[in-house]
This record gives sequence, C-alpha cells and structure tokens, in this order.
Amino acid sequence: MQRKALIIGACGQIGIELTMALRQKLGAESVVASDVKETCPPAIADGPYVQLSVLDFDALRQVLITYQITEVYNMAALLSATSEKNPAFAWELNMNGLLHTLNLAKEGLIQRLFWPSSIAVFGPTTPRQNTPQDTIMDPNSVYGISKLAGERWCEYYAQKHQVDVRSLRYPGLIGYRSAPGGGTTDYAVDIFYKAIETGQYECFLGPNTMLPMMMMEDAIRATIDITEAPAEQIKIRSSYNLAGCSFTPAELAEHIRLYIPAFEMTYAPDFRQSLADSWPDSIDDQRARQDWGWSHAFDTAALTKKMIEEIGLKINATNAK
Ligand code: SER
Repeated sequence: MQRKALIIGACGQIGIELTMALRQKLGAESVVASDVKETCPPAIADGPYVQLSVLDFDALRQVLITYQITEVYNMAALLSATSEKNPAFAWELNMNGLLHTLNLAKEGLIQRLFWPSSIAVFGPTTPRQNTPQDTIMDPNSVYGISKLAGERWCEYYAQKHQVDVRSLRYPGLIGYRSAPGGGTTDYAVDIFYKAIETGQYECFLGPNTMLPMMMMEDAIRATIDITEAPAEQIKIRSSYNLAGCSFTPAELAEHIRLYIPAFEMTYAPDFRQSLADSWPDSIDDQRARQDWGWSHAFDTAALTKKMIEEIGLKINATNAK
C-alpha cells in the first residue's frame, strides 16, 4: 500500500520538522500537514495543508478518508507549563485528541499511529538517574498525568483492539527550525537566540537543574524509525524511553562560552522549576536500542555546536534583510 501520512499539530515545534523530514522521504504530496491554525508556516507550505482541530472527530475522519491516509502522527498537545495554566483544556486536548485517533485506528481508518509521550510521565519518587523503562510513575503535573493516562490508553487499544500505535517518551527537544511553546525545557532553545543576539540570558530554571534533552534531528529520526519498524519489533505499546544527552543550565552555559566567551547567565526560577524538579536527570533507553535499533547521534557538545551555527546563520540572514 502506498504510504500517505497525516501530521496533526503540524505547525508546532515538532510538527514542522516532522512534516519537512517526512516530505523529504515520501514526497510533498504524500504528507498532509494539519493544524488548528488558519495558515501554515512557509517551511511547510510546499505540500497539502488542512485546517483541522483534532477535537473535531467528524472533520478528522473526513480528512482521513479524503486523503486516503495510512499513517497518522498525532502531535497536537498542550505542553507542561501551559497545561498548568489551563488544566481542563489540557486534559481535553491531550486525552480526547488521542482517543479520537485511537478510535479511528480501531475503525480501520489509520494503519499506523504515532503519539508522543514524555519524560513528564515520571514523578518525584521515580528513580532519577538512568530512569528505567518500567519504574515508579507518579507524575504531579497536569501534562504528565495526561501523558501517563495516554500511554495506558495506547497499550489498551493495542491489546484489546489490535491498534498499531507506537510511542516515545521524548526528552526536552532542542531545534533551530521551529520555536518551542509552553514547555519547561524551552529555555534550552531560547538561550541560544539570546546568547547570540545579546550575550545574556535569564534562565527560568536554577543552575543545577539536570534534565534529559535531545537534538531535534535525533528525535525526528527516532519518530520515523519507530513508525517504520516492523510491527513485531515494537514490543512496548505504552511508550519507549528515549535518551540523547543530559545537562543543567549551568553546564549548557559553559558549552556556549566555548563559542561566546563573554556569555552571561542569570537565574530567576519560576513555577516551572517544580515541574523540572519532578522529572528525571537521565533516562535508560536500552529497550529502544534493543527492540528497533535506536541510537542517538548528538551529545551536548555536538548539540551546542549545531545550535550556535544554525541560529547564527538564521540571525545573520534576518539582519541582512
Ligand atoms: N519538553 C516538554 C515540556 O517541557 C516535556 O515533554 O513540557
């Protein structure tokens, strides 16, 4: 069967990059981008775009039929910081959005479904270093609660209804093509823009807050690899642990100083600190490595180099206009 992909939430931080990567692979016409936004960003204007809310079940169903979609990437979600501000809507979007796609897969309208989970499924009493795949999960954030419940739904639909759903627990994702929004790990993207433009950054997390992070290129490759892997290799149907590198804001600042020696960092922790404090320092992703051959490419040094180079080019191009 010819692959035809639908990306839900295609205008978001991951959605934009995933749309670009899948279009490289499958051809622009074979990847339908969709989002609640009326117009799509220029980066993904080279192929089909549909204005769509994942909460509108009938409209979503119609898009699947009209475009003869075979695989869906359901990336629409409220992230951790925004979810704390609007718990009711976070629950509605993160849960009903997922259930809509699971039910449409159960109906046979989606052959393969990708849905992202997060390191936010872990909580304050989870082992913090090298957090295992199977461990205590006691999320204390609205976002984390929705992701953990979502993981249970994925496994339930896989077991009870043979839905082919695949999922990853993303760490904080760091990229230069798209902007993050509403997350606790967003500082690690903003810091590069501020470092290059002003030489200073005020961080909303404290200096020693260690978190698992990953270069966007790695996350996109993991997403495509897990979705393309033969079904029998996907032995975990809740969600796989996934790891890239781990660093604290102070460590990231040190890496940036290799390129911008005078870079100054100050700290003003806000409500996001307690979210970060409840998440792991580092993740054990052995199962992903064993089951479907995952390995990361970017460590903190390589991530910093790439971000400095690419954002530098972007800022120069804007200033030259
Ligand atoms: N990066 C996300 C956030 O900070 C966690 O999955 O909300």
